[in-house]
Amino acid sequence: MKEHTVTVTDNRTGEQIELPVKHPTHGPYAVDIGRLFRDAGYFTYDPGFLSTASCQSTLTYLDGDNGELLYRGYPIEQLAEKSSFTEVAYLMLYGELPEKEPLKKFNDVIIKHSMLNESLSSLFGGFYHDAHPMAIMVGVVGSLSAFYHDSTDISNASHREIAAHRMIAKMPTIAAASYKHSIGEPQVYPDNSLSYTGNLLRMMFSVPCEPYKVDPVAEKALDLIFILHIDHEQNASTSTVRLAGSSGANPFACIASGIAALWGPAHGGANEAVLSMLDEIGHVDNIPEFLARAKDKNDPFRLMGFGHRVYKNYDPRAKIIRQMCYDVLEKLDDKDDPTFELALKLEEIALNDEYFIQRNLYPNVDFYSGLIYKALGIPTNMFTVMFAIARTVGWVAQWTEMIAEENQRIGRPRQIYVGPEKRDYVEIDKRQ
Ligand code: SDX
Repeated sequence: MKEHTVTVTDNRTGEQIELPVKHPTHGPYAVDIGRLFRDAGYFTYDPGFLSTASCQSTLTYLDGDNGELLYRGYPIEQLAEKSSFTEVAYLMLYGELPEKEPLKKFNDVIIKHSMLNESLSSLFGGFYHDAHPMAIMVGVVGSLSAFYHDSTDISNASHREIAAHRMIAKMPTIAAASYKHSIGEPQVYPDNSLSYTGNLLRMMFSVPCEPYKVDPVAEKALDLIFILHIDHEQNASTSTVRLAGSSGANPFACIASGIAALWGPAHGGANEAVLSMLDEIGHVDNIPEFLARAKDKNDPFRLMGFGHRVYKNYDPRAKIIRQMCYDVLEKLDDKDDPTFELALKLEEIALNDEYFIQRNLYPNVDFYSGLIYKALGIPTNMFTVMFAIARTVGWVAQWTEMIAEENQRIGRPRQIYVGPEKRDYVEIDKRQ
């Protein structure tokens, strides 16, 4: 990688230190501060990591100012229009778009891993019927290492590959089983004759007492939404997976940590929060009151589905999903969905409001995705589960990239200590 240097001067002592600057394929140059503490005794300070690159990666590139997203160099718009979820999953895992035979083989491998160990299936019964499906998913995925010992040696490339395939394949089965448990219906086994998303729909919505036909509109819509959610650079949940993985934890535990991080409403939990917010707003007339609350620093309310750490322009995924909303609602003959109308109105008013314009707050991927899930009959508490299914591809690809790195080391950030000065212990009868 090409480099140049920058020189940092400490105005207190006049001391100077020269630091290497790395040149990326796309995006900002990065000052390599790895030697700063050893050579000059300084830490850097960047809570929330607004200006910090935690790693090098070949997987995904985001341009927040131009609203651009590339997977392995391919624009998300082209993949969304021309590719499929499992083809993009292959691209993320292996770096290139597959030819026909390798893609067929990959699809076969994934479908063959979609069943769960039968003892694992009984885990779901241990959860209370009203357990949130994300809570079930965190628990079940974390327990996978108890069942699949033959793919937990992270130093073995074939173990890493089998573990990646297993997680991508089993997430829909775990998700559907979590859903079935929450509605008191029997789990449905995968059907190897169906597509990845067709299988998920059937495992979620079929019942033993009648035939089930996958709706091609729903199957295609889910496939497209999943492509858009596959990866997103070093977001909170991906960074969690990398940090967990850097300690040598087994891949299933790492993905479980990613699911837990994704659940937060500031992150993947936002899609569920958007629908709750739209239900709370209820009517277009109430929008001004909620916008006022979103601007009020004393009110914790935020406009869910708006804003993004990186995108200071329209999230390209939101643009695609917004158009999909029209198409899917039209095809499902649900085009007058009042919630969709309300979302469009809320977006229009917010995007013309000075507060949102000044802060570059645009709809993000979570603003519209819930509307499509709702139109497909997926309950609100399963929205983040859907996100987790798709993001598992990104998590396992990022984890694999990190583990395969030559100089991979445990992640161990430092801090600025602002606690009490050093002091001696005081016996209890001398304290006042
Ligand atoms: C995802 O990182 C990723 O790539 C994530 C993701 C992925 O694919 O992995 O893209 C998926 O998580 C999308 C984001 C989903 N979350 C939400 O929709 C929740 C609502 N959004 C916010 O909580 C917020 O915008 C974040 C968390 C998304 C981003 O937070 P930042 O970058 O820390 O922004 P900030 O808090 O510094 O906000 C900057 C300003 C602040 O006002 P000022 O202090 O400057 O006056 O904008 C305001 C914030 O108060 N602001 C909002 C707002 N988001 C930011 N005000 C009202 N409503 C909002 N949604």
